[in-house]
Amino acid sequence: MAKKYVDGIGNIISDQINIVDVISQKVDLKKAGQNFKGLCPFHSEKTGSFMVSESKQIYKCFGCGAGGNVIKFVMESENLDFLTAIESLADRFNIDLSSYRNRDFDETSYRDLSEFYELNRKAAHFYMNSLRENSQARDYLLARGLSEKTLRVYGLGYADESWHNLYNLIGKDLDQSRAEESGLFGYGARGFYDRFRDRIIFPIVDLRRRVVGFGARTMDPEGIPKYLNTADTPVFNKSYHLYGLNIAKDHRGDQRRIILVEGYMDVISLFDKGVANAVASLGTAFTKEQAKLLERYCSELIILYDGDGAGIEATKRALEILDEFSMDVRVVTLPDGQDPDDYIGKEGKEKFLNYLEEKALESLEYRILDLEKSHNLKTMAGKSAFLEEIGVLLGKIKKHSQQDLYLRYVAERVGVSAEDLRRDIDIVTKAPAKKKKVRKSEEATDILMALVMQNKDVAQRIFKHDWFFLMDKSWRDLLSMLVKEEGFNLDDASELFNLEQIDYMLKSRDRVLSQADLDYWEGFFRRVLDDQLDRKIEELRLEPYDDKLEEIVLLQKMKVKIMAKEGGGRW
Ligand code: UTP
Ligand code: MN
Repeated sequence: MAKKYVDGIGNIISDQINIVDVISQKVDLKKAGQNFKGLCPFHSEKTGSFMVSESKQIYKCFGCGAGGNVIKFVMESENLDFLTAIESLADRFNIDLSSYRNRDFDETSYRDLSEFYELNRKAAHFYMNSLRENSQARDYLLARGLSEKTLRVYGLGYADESWHNLYNLIGKDLDQSRAEESGLFGYGARGFYDRFRDRIIFPIVDLRRRVVGFGARTMDPEGIPKYLNTADTPVFNKSYHLYGLNIAKDHRGDQRRIILVEGYMDVISLFDKGVANAVASLGTAFTKEQAKLLERYCSELIILYDGDGAGIEATKRALEILDEFSMDVRVVTLPDGQDPDDYIGKEGKEKFLNYLEEKALESLEYRILDLEKSHNLKTMAGKSAFLEEIGVLLGKIKKHSQQDLYLRYVAERVGVSAEDLRRDIDIVTKAPAKKKKVRKSEEATDILMALVMQNKDVAQRIFKHDWFFLMDKSWRDLLSMLVKEEGFNLDDASELFNLEQIDYMLKSRDRVLSQADLDYWEGFFRRVLDDQLDRKIEELRLEPYDDKLEEIVLLQKMKVKIMAKEGGGRW
């Protein structure tokens, strides 16, 4: 996929903005000679060592070393990534970004969506006003222990009982198709009607503070469904959002820790009691896209789902997805089927935080304990089934010391010797044929990365190769960048990749390559593709749909084609 905006978008935007205007909204700046001076927003200080140069359009703190241009300031002070910072600045200064859109960027699917955001914003205001006027709804929320401040921060609202109040206010002048697409209205025999009625409204806000959708809870304890959510609209797809991330991202602390919970009310009630770093996965199973979004903002994730059966199942599925991501993941299970809202309501913040501290299990530990529970370790059959499954898990642990620790634990639980268990695991995970393959594809990936990072010609050949489209998205993004005139650049990279990926790419520049490596680039390419296809096929196999079969067969055919050329090559 091509980049969203033209090259150099960072400069284009910062050229149109005065850094002093942006910073003075956050920092009380005083003129000091040629510069401006104030108290640094990035560390606490009593005398100002934070300077802004209007002529150079940069800031620098001589206390903590923070510094950069206006975009960096917005990124750092608002915890946004590059692209979001640009878009947010453009919003604030009325810069029309559409004229800087990259023409290659899937132009066909590009559409001006501002109208939908505007409709949502108006709807959210309408709901908030209704909450102010409806004491029953307000009492419901206050009775659930929320403060007025919390209601304001999350913009909670109330959709009244009428079928047409919102429609009459913002819907009736709309194009019919817009009204339908907005997700705010339903359409029946008698025309349009308000979709949410007599429900508490939870606006879902994205990282640029735009209202993208709504959750709506009935106040009737018997009401079904309990929550109604905005269906997919042009600006909303629930698997791409995390409820509360707009607020949690500013409260992650130095560890960049985020707590993942199930429900709207969990997020809000934790905030109300002083725990502001929780997000919820919007009533769907946690998705890869959500993991990807989280990864940009989070180094430590605590999964804190409801303590019931459904919560435990959801936890296991989330763990599988998170396996492929870089953050540390830990799991906390709440007692007696409670949810975080129940628990913190009863026990308060201190006890809640202590509970997290004491009960957090590393993701592996959690899985081992879970496997233990699902097998009867009193019988031989149970033990051996347990050992078989656990072997795979233990084999995945990369650190020897850690593997050893778990291995001893498991051995003791089952009553075998740690040495025997280790040998068994070696057999499972390091079967010779498999070992060779893993090593080779990893090595091929490393070499191919070094080749493209160091050699534009190779990047170009792969970019133009018939099989380019088969590569993983991050490879495609990287190659598209490398073949451009300016090649690899950090601005764009930080838009597309996470820090680990960027680090890997930069390190690959220093890898020593031989002429033979260069000559053999296509071999490495094939090897990497083969490996990626294997993984895709594996993933598809895990999905429970028959229609994936066709795709699997297709990928397998591609694999045969790719490897057919491999022949007597270096492997
Ligand atoms: P819960 O029933 O645990 O919600 O569902 P909760 O937030 O704890 O609700 P309260 O405390 O009873 O008000 C967890 C999440 O699943 C989704 C919602 O996102 C909810 O927050 N959900 C649940 C729905 O989308 N629809 C439903 O009917 C129920
Ligand atoms: Mn719940």
